[in-house]
Amino acid sequence: MTEQAVDPRRYRETLGHYPTGVVIVTGIAEDGEPVGMVVGTFTAVSLSPPLVAFLPRRDSRTFARLRTAATFCVNVLSATQVWLCRRFTDPDVTDKFHGVPWTPAPSGAPIIEGGIAWIDCDYDAITEGGDHYIVLGRVRDMRVTGDEPPLLFRKGGYGRFAPLAPAEPAAADAVDGVPPHDRTAPPPPADGTADGRAHSVPRA
Ligand SMILES: Cc1cc2nc3c(=O)[nH]c(=O)nc-3n(C[C@H](O)[C@H](O)[C@H](O)COP(=O)(O)O)c2cc1C
Repeated sequence: MTEQAVDPRRYRETLGHYPTGVVIVTGIAEDGEPVGMVVGTFTAVSLSPPLVAFLPRRDSRTFARLRTAATFCVNVLSATQVWLCRRFTDPDVTDKFHGVPWTPAPSGAPIIEGGIAWIDCDYDAITEGGDHYIVLGRVRDMRVTGDEPPLLFRKGGYGRFAPLAPAEPAAADAVDGVPPHDRTAPPPPADGTADGRAHSVPRA
């Protein structure tokens, strides 16, 4: 598919079906003030060396300030922190940190109170990825600070993570009533007429 063939609306609509977590990336800007940016594109990259990444828009004014900071801290939000997202993305709120309790991470970047984890990073590299930057951070310290369900973002709305099953089948005896030997099989059809697997083979 050529670039012209990709309809921006379809791109946003399609990619919007892929859920993300939500973090606020914070730092102390060169003027000494705290700055924070709501980010859904945060991801783990590498264990050795320990690298993470996020993708800010190249025209983001918030990232322009954030990159003046010497370091940054990724704050993983809990499902109870939608208000923080609204606050940090509201153009009418000039002082985003007013009334938001925070403490400095080892690097000095803000750890926002009430999050479920923080990851304190040095900037490792900033490269261009189309109309976004790909920011690589080298992890210097991190902690898990809460056990609440994390906040998720999908199709323009917020939700929360709800556990369904462990990724490792051997980790539990029964998951949602599915016996261990059947856990890699597709579920039966919803109408309950027959075993779904039989339909994939044409009958003689
Ligand atoms: C859930 C959510 C996720 C977001 N993820 C990103 C992101 O990954 N990259 C980005 O550049 N902006 C992202 N934004 C938008 C920024 O948080 C911010 O609102 C926008 O950059 C404001 O414009 P400014 O940076 O010019 O101030 C996200 C917003 C929301 C609500």
